[in-house]
Amino acid sequence: MSIIIKTPAEIEKMRVSGRLAADVLDMIAPYVVAGVTTNYLNDLCHNYIVDVQDAIPSPLNYRGFPKSICTSINHQVCHGIPSEKKLKSGDIINIDITVLKDGYHGDTSMMFCVGDVAPHAQRLCKITQEALFLGIEQIKAGATLGDIGEAIQLHAEGNRYSVVRNFCGHGIGKDFHEEPQVLHYGNAGEGLVLEAGMIITVEPMINLGKYATKSLGDGWTEVTKDHSLSAQYEHTVLVTETGYEILTLRQSER
Ligand code: MF3
Ligand code: CO
Ligand code: CO
Repeated sequence: MSIIIKTPAEIEKMRVSGRLAADVLDMIAPYVVAGVTTNYLNDLCHNYIVDVQDAIPSPLNYRGFPKSICTSINHQVCHGIPSEKKLKSGDIINIDITVLKDGYHGDTSMMFCVGDVAPHAQRLCKITQEALFLGIEQIKAGATLGDIGEAIQLHAEGNRYSVVRNFCGHGIGKDFHEEPQVLHYGNAGEGLVLEAGMIITVEPMINLGKYATKSLGDGWTEVTKDHSLSAQYEHTVLVTETGYEILTLRQSER
């Protein structure tokens, strides 16, 4: 395993990339309403990243991905492809933004509720965001990846949800996906020992039903096998000696 420890200069660039990714979510929020297509949201984000941020949307052409953002609705777990389908009241949607600026990637996602969303769906989103932060709060030099995974799993399963197994967080920097793999389940004290200067994403996908997922057949979109609702939140996080720094915090979270 070769996990990259970022230099202070690289960390500074990652702060910029992270902030830009977060800014895209803040920008798009008011447009996530019933009646708009996910293609429209994609185009707004693409133009903002390219024209305003002078950056590159990392997903576009990444291993053949055809769009600039991922939009995953309801039982879609991740990697949903924007399309001409319109959002409707009651939908929950994850928008996942990754930007490349000055050679470094920043990666973040969140859930949006469209119109009137059922309480059980709102609750899934809330618990998933809580699970993300419980995972992040484990992070410091000397902690392990298992500490992160266990904290997330306990919160999800304690609320009778399940943690998706076949997608994980990742190291990030010059490459979109670097080592290590960051599992969202596991046992405290196990796995890789974190060191200051590592930068990872934490991005739990939590299902209302069982954790199994399957591909939709378009080569990208992953859905829950039992068609239950799924939610995801993601941050890019720097490991420090005493804790962590979230590089993708939005204005509303600061
Ligand atoms: N942003 C996703 C992640 O969190 C990866 C998307 S890959 C894509 O790792 F090709 F679908 F964009
Ligand atoms: Co990611
Ligand atoms: Co992402």
